[in-house]
Amino acid sequence: MSEADPTQTTLTRDQRAVYPSLKGKRVLITGGGSGIGAGLVEGFVRQGADVTFFDIAKEDSQALVTRLSGAHQPKFEHCDLTDIKTVQAVIARLIEANGAFDVLINNAANDDRHTIEEVTEEYWDNRLNTNLKHLFFCAQAVIPGMKAKGGGVIVNLGSISWHLALSELTLYQTAKAAIEGLTRSFARELGPDNIRSVCIVPGNVKTPRQMMWYTPEGEAEIVAAQCMKGRLVPDDIAAMALFLASDDARLVTGHEFFVDAGWR
Ligand SMILES: NC(=O)c1ccc[n+]([C@@H]2O[C@H](COP(=O)([O-])OP(=O)(O)OC[C@H]3O[C@@H](n4cnc5c(N)ncnc54)[C@H](O)[C@@H]3O)[C@@H](O)[C@H]2O)c1
Repeated sequence: MSEADPTQTTLTRDQRAVYPSLKGKRVLITGGGSGIGAGLVEGFVRQGADVTFFDIAKEDSQALVTRLSGAHQPKFEHCDLTDIKTVQAVIARLIEANGAFDVLINNAANDDRHTIEEVTEEYWDNRLNTNLKHLFFCAQAVIPGMKAKGGGVIVNLGSISWHLALSELTLYQTAKAAIEGLTRSFARELGPDNIRSVCIVPGNVKTPRQMMWYTPEGEAEIVAAQCMKGRLVPDDIAAMALFLASDDARLVTGHEFFVDAGWR
């Protein structure tokens, strides 16, 4: 890898920031088994945080846990986030066993494509349940513990897609737009309890799933539309999440933070 190559990351994992305030923090990450979520899990593990992640992708998740074996090995909970009653029960069990969470990263989503004509009422519910509903209920389940602890951080993953009005993503984009409203609402409601709520807005991040959608020409088009010509990778999103979750960001709340290489 050439240091001058703008399409490659230039930092090794050992050169990345470590926030002392994240050491030992209880962190819950949804959709942590692959893609950006796996980068988030790895980033928080590197901080010495106590990380639990939810996912439905068993194989990827177990492989990640094995790869991150060591003093701060993350814990995987197989949990379908569209099943809210189970989500509530699992979070209650985790809090009962090991105490309240300090940080919630609402990351899981699914960006299946569809036309307006194809959308049935059932598909609407399925997409909004997959991309919006669980963010609220995961937060609702961890908030009492955060209040009792004297504070916490909720980081929601939005998307640049609706800001650019991309095609065939109407329901995903509807959910992602709502997430920015949810973030600001939480910030207002929870600020007095020292709970911060922020939203990270990724541009196009190179993950196994994204590579399903884009040909090399498609990728080149995205890079051409970015102000900077590097390809975003999960570590770039994790870097923002770590800062926002740390006490270094103690009065940062109620806003969106774009990590998109200036995609317009
Ligand atoms: N990759 C990008 O280019 C990009 C761009 C903008 C926004 N985002 C956002 O970043 C976040 C992560 O995206 P990604 O690209 O890593 O996605 P991804 O599809 O690669 O990974 C999502 C993870 O969530 C899990 N998941 C999905 N539905 C679930 C459910 N019902 N229950 C439990 N787990 C479930 C999946 O198994 C997977 O491990 C998402 O919120 C996404 O909308 C990503």
